[in-house]
Amino acid sequence: MTKEALCELAIAAREQAYAPYSGYTVGAALLAADGHVYTGCNIENAAFTPTVCAERTAIFKAVSEGERKFTMMAVAGGKAGQPGEAFPPCGVCRQVLAEFCPPDFPILLAETGGRYTTYTLAEILPLAFTPKHVD
Ligand code: THU
Repeated sequence: MTKEALCELAIAAREQAYAPYSGYTVGAALLAADGHVYTGCNIENAAFTPTVCAERTAIFKAVSEGERKFTMMAVAGGKAGQPGEAFPPCGVCRQVLAEFCPPDFPILLAETGGRYTTYTLAEILPLAFTPKHVD
């Protein structure tokens, strides 16, 4: 699985988003160590706070299927029906990633048109609170 292909899967996952309130559709594609890809989209709710982000949908799908080792994640988002520009994971999703992924875990911010920028988890979540702090 190339980085470009994972980005395309994240962009495609935007189409499943349920985002009637914000109008922002987000897709994520999470590559597991065994080669399996788990996709996710944002799923909003009339009560607002139960809304879940695309990244957490993908991670929770994977972990609930028995996966705990991940290689990289691609994220794509933007206004529904419009091309996406870099759409970085929210703080809650960064924290959930830090539970399962190492500091050098690559996060690809996919843009429509094939471009992407890569950040490590440590770059976007420095001084992370991780399982080792509650050993
Ligand atoms: N959203 C995500 O899916 N991922 C993020 O990391 C940031 C925000 C969603 C939540 C909400 O449905 C919409 O984008 C606008 O905040």
